Amino acid sequence: MPGKVILGAQWGDEGKGKFIDIFAGRADLVVRSQGGNNAGHTVVAGGEKYKLQLIPSGILYPACVNVIGPGVVVNPKAVLGEIDGLHEKGVSTDKLFIDARCHCILPWHLELDALSEAEKAKDGTAIGTTKKGIGPTYMDKSERSGVRMHDFVDPDRFETVVREACAYKNRVITGVYGGEPIDADAVVAEYRAYAERLRPYVTDTSLLTWEAVQAGKEVLFEGAQGTLLDLDMGTYPFVTSSHPVAGGCCIGSGVGPTAVRSIMGIFKSYTTRVGEGPFPTELFDDTGDYIRNAGGEFGTVTGRPRRTGWFDAVVARYAVRVNGMTEAVINKIDPLRGLPKLKVCVAYRLKNGETVTELPANFLALDGCEPVYEEFDGFDEDITDCRSFAELPQTVQSYIRELERLIGCPITMLGVGPARDQVIELA
Ligand code: GTP
Repeated sequence: MPGKVILGAQWGDEGKGKFIDIFAGRADLVVRSQGGNNAGHTVVAGGEKYKLQLIPSGILYPACVNVIGPGVVVNPKAVLGEIDGLHEKGVSTDKLFIDARCHCILPWHLELDALSEAEKAKDGTAIGTTKKGIGPTYMDKSERSGVRMHDFVDPDRFETVVREACAYKNRVITGVYGGEPIDADAVVAEYRAYAERLRPYVTDTSLLTWEAVQAGKEVLFEGAQGTLLDLDMGTYPFVTSSHPVAGGCCIGSGVGPTAVRSIMGIFKSYTTRVGEGPFPTELFDDTGDYIRNAGGEFGTVTGRPRRTGWFDAVVARYAVRVNGMTEAVINKIDPLRGLPKLKVCVAYRLKNGETVTELPANFLALDGCEPVYEEFDGFDEDITDCRSFAELPQTVQSYIRELERLIGCPITMLGVGPARDQVIELA
């Protein structure tokens, strides 16, 4: 059972990229299993900066097979843009494979994403999607009206399925939202070329992944987004349209749970979230600003400040539980330097007076709740050069040991700086 899952254990942006990159270098096959080009990370290798959104991080390692699994929604234009960007930098995509079952993000999905967010914004219920068409594509998949990759790249099926889908969606765009219809002729003309170019990459990656598992190869399941953004287990409706939890890796890659040996959850030493939705430990004061600036917590594309707050052990325990996490990583510890006290939320005092230590299934119960904190001493030392647990200041060591106790999962790695080698592996 050689599979390792690396996933986000909070609301995304935990800095998974660094750890995925480390383990991709040790893997024979890396597979993405959910989301689309709404995720991704920047990997710095050999002095070059690579922005990867859909293509797994293993692409930078020539021996590694890279798989976009059946649970991913693929924007043909976006994936080709990434492929071209890699080719320009001399990176081969010969070992990249896209599953034939992937659903395609097409122009009407982008249009519907924008129209629906604009409509919801009118009554203040916008979710803050990335407007990349991800949600509408997953909706079509569930509705069984989507366009799958095997049809998209089939010269005999391409035009029929694209025209049918376009006609159907135009009825929604014009009828429901009063928007402008999408020009099917233009889509067919533009996207036929994308289909031609993508055809060689399309195959049955479930089989490919299974064969790697059977052969005892190292398989890395590369998570995107975070546990609290999971469609079922996250803070619905402020969630993504797929399943970033560990179980989602199996569904979205087409191999069963027995293929997974370890499930590594990445936490930050504090919490951030983007967009709307509940966030009990959010800080609205100078400490929140301090963490935001020290951690560089601004959207990579938009530059929008991320909401920041203390580490929430209630959320963390929940993430350990719903993922069946076998090991945890506490990343971005260095930004906490200089804070006199570090707080960790261990329970919530709800508005009805009740104190709970488990995350309520109905997140509305968190409305107006008060976090109950444990407090720990802070640290002033620069820890970015520490490479072993023993080198860390005593205060940081006890903070980590306390977190381990509070979340109920062994902590196996720490992050003390942005670089790939600024990590500490715990014995
Ligand atoms: P996600 O998949 O969304 O988690 O993407 P990501 O892994 O790229 O996360 P994010 O977009 O938040 O990027 C992480 C940022 O934090 C990058 O700029 C990293 O260089 C930086 N970073 C990662 N680890 C550390 C760390 O331990 N300390 C500090 N100071 N920065 C870090």
